[in-house]
Amino acid sequence: MRIGVLTGGGDCPGLNAVIRAVVRKGTFHYEDGFVGFMEGWRGLLEDKTMELDLSSVGGILPRGGTILRTSRTNPAKYPDGLQRCAGNLRKHGCEALIAIGGDDTLSVAEKLFANGVKVIGVPKTIDNDLAGTDFTFGFDTAVNIATEAIDRVHTTAEAHNRVIVVEVMGRAAGWIATYSGIAGGADVILVPEVPFDIEQVAELIRQRHARGRYFSIVVAAEGAKFADGNEKHAEASALQAGRDEFGHIRLGGIGSVLASEIEKRTGFETRSVVLGHIQRGGSPTAYDRVLATRYGLGAIDMVHRGEFGQMAALHGNRIISVPLAEAVATNRTVDREILDAAVGILDTLDYKVTGAS
Ligand code: F6P
Repeated sequence: MRIGVLTGGGDCPGLNAVIRAVVRKGTFHYEDGFVGFMEGWRGLLEDKTMELDLSSVGGILPRGGTILRTSRTNPAKYPDGLQRCAGNLRKHGCEALIAIGGDDTLSVAEKLFANGVKVIGVPKTIDNDLAGTDFTFGFDTAVNIATEAIDRVHTTAEAHNRVIVVEVMGRAAGWIATYSGIAGGADVILVPEVPFDIEQVAELIRQRHARGRYFSIVVAAEGAKFADGNEKHAEASALQAGRDEFGHIRLGGIGSVLASEIEKRTGFETRSVVLGHIQRGGSPTAYDRVLATRYGLGAIDMVHRGEFGQMAALHGNRIISVPLAEAVATNRTVDREILDAAVGILDTLDYKVTGAS
């Protein structure tokens, strides 16, 4: 069978491992041939392709990024965009398409499926906020990078008697902030799921320092929200950078807003660091290489079982398939139990998670 493959949305460590697994199993077990569509949906829309065979996937397992490159192109925004995608698949003799991406990419996959295209999805995002699966690949790598950064920031915060705010990615959900915050022993963890009261954050830090501690670490997801809805940094970002084709503003900046508020309210010298794309770059962890490989193997098997309109998903330790519609219906926010674990390690009883579902 001839199969198209593309990677869409923000890149993520492990994308190459998925591509490699798809091509190797497809070639060895099913005698498939592949067409790589370049730069996400843009390649399918504009017919930009590359050869995808055993030699093109040689040596890519440990490499970050994606040999197919990526973009945030949304074909549904273009006149006849979905029809053009279907037409280019036909032109290359592709009977099926494997789309590797997060909620935006897979929402397009779902639309194409509704238009008669045989699509399989593979869940990707460092944010881990895709519904229908327990974990997305890339998340573990991002958490490890963020944890190492928090460890490093700890020693300098301690040396200088400072508060340091570490801003991590996490647009709709605070998975990276929660996991790296727990792993790195953060004193405050702020996530989009639980709007925070800045005075409560300041009080938490004051109490900690009153008990004799002289430095603090705050980990904040880029999408964390002020309880009073005062999102000036986000408004500024939307004005400055506009929105992408899926309607998202470019986040970033909450760390420095928090740092100046904390310093103003507590009198403690405060700094902020933004980890940004460092979390998305570089080689995947062993866990992500294995998970990404298993997703790739699951996806190619799904193609040959005819499970179209579905996404490969991790449930417990099994790869199964779930409807794309389920995966894109909502963002998967951090479980209450994990949020409770994050709060449980903080050394104050005054700070409570409220508003989490
Ligand atoms: O892929 C999701 C994500 O990592 C978000 O956490 C972040 O807001 C966004 O990507 C950044 O995207 P870009 O690379 O387009 O700036």
